[in-house]
Amino acid sequence: MDKFRITGGRPLAGRVSISGAKNSSLPCMAAALLTAEPVVLHNVPYVRDIITQRRLLEDLGATVLTPELRTHKITAAHIEVFEAPYDLVKTMRASVLVLGPLLARFGKAKVSLPGGCAIGTRPIDLHLEGLQHLGAEVNLEAGYVVARAPAGRGRLQGAEIHFDKVTVTGTENLLMAATLAEGKTTMHNAAREPEVVDLAELLNRMGARVRGAGTPTITVEGVEALGPAEHTIIPDRIETGTFLVAAAITGGELELRDCRPEHSATVISKLREAGVEIEEVNQSTLHVRRGAGGLRARDITTEPHPRFPTDMQAQYMALMTQAEGRSVIKETIFENRFMHASEMQRMGARIAIDGRTAIVDGPVHLTGARLQASDLRASACLVLAGLVAAGETIIERVYHIDRGYEKIEAKLRSVGADIERLRESVTASLPPTEIGVL
Ligand code: EPU
Repeated sequence: MDKFRITGGRPLAGRVSISGAKNSSLPCMAAALLTAEPVVLHNVPYVRDIITQRRLLEDLGATVLTPELRTHKITAAHIEVFEAPYDLVKTMRASVLVLGPLLARFGKAKVSLPGGCAIGTRPIDLHLEGLQHLGAEVNLEAGYVVARAPAGRGRLQGAEIHFDKVTVTGTENLLMAATLAEGKTTMHNAAREPEVVDLAELLNRMGARVRGAGTPTITVEGVEALGPAEHTIIPDRIETGTFLVAAAITGGELELRDCRPEHSATVISKLREAGVEIEEVNQSTLHVRRGAGGLRARDITTEPHPRFPTDMQAQYMALMTQAEGRSVIKETIFENRFMHASEMQRMGARIAIDGRTAIVDGPVHLTGARLQASDLRASACLVLAGLVAAGETIIERVYHIDRGYEKIEAKLRSVGADIERLRESVTASLPPTEIGVL
């Protein structure tokens, strides 16, 4: 298994290009199952989860061509299998996103129940309840969800859906299912994440009638069939946030290109409060550096978009170890998303955990250590801590970071970080020009 070796203490300087959003690409790839015509997606990041999603689509019978590295042409003309097996779902929960499209177009789908993961229990009950509202018959059989369109009608039926809790992939699954349902579907308390809006844009390009994406109420007028489309995936707002923190934590200065500042508004404003200078150079470029007054402790609470994202909580915690004062970090989305805290404690961080609250006292001098990555964002946090720690940090199990960050070590190295990957992996063999390093 690959490891990272980082020698901390170098301020970063230079330009970084932000990749396309993983969490937008995954539902958009699944949406290609809604039509027999080709769906072409540009700006898909070259990360492990995308390779997994591609494999799933191919296993179902879709053809996936990549005429260019980050362009996927998906044609689901001959779907022969209607099942997402346990082996794939257990490695990537987002494979449940094929449930809505398969059920809507073919009237049947079988998807393994994902079970727990490193950050919490993560059930999919809200996906299933929503599909039942659309008339689907849903049964659990030997660890699998087996869903069928309503007997007799053969097609899902539009309905009113109220989500008890905001769920991103739940909203996406139902959104895709509703596009081919008979009649109108209204979703209340829908997720407002930019990735949901991006998916809705793709669906509308395919001929769907979706309105209200980005607000808590989304309406979908079902259509009989969807057609071909071409779409460019939005930039990854979590990668953007991670590099904003990378500049601030190292006392460096970065220009982030190909990003969408409006998708990171809450993170940007919180970082500014904490003493980070961030300038919006234009609609796709940010300039960031640590302010002259140094970093100040500021509290955050993770909540659904447009509030502070849970996917930036770990990286923010790393930053707070370097800020003056005490910060209180509350995680309200996932119950077990503080695994990075105990690893940073081993580097000398002063962090106390009480349930879903972490109290961080700073600033502290972190020292390099041997660390274990536990999930994607926790890995990013440990990389950030390693960049500022004295001496050498070794991060094990970096396959977690490869799931969602495109060649992060090459991007960091290109702006002056002393980081290297120990042992080869698939992504490691790409030359820097192929992975968005400017
Ligand atoms: N929940 C339920 N029942 C459901 C669905 C969700 O109780 O049927 C709960 C979850 O347990 C959690 C909360 O609702 O407590 C929110 O979960 P959500 O469904 O929104 O999460 P998700 O759709 O599984 C996506 C991202 C995650 C991100 C979360 C929250 C994708 C592929 N994944 O997950 O991204 O943390 O939304 O914003 O879009 C990551 O990229 O590292 C990552 C984990």
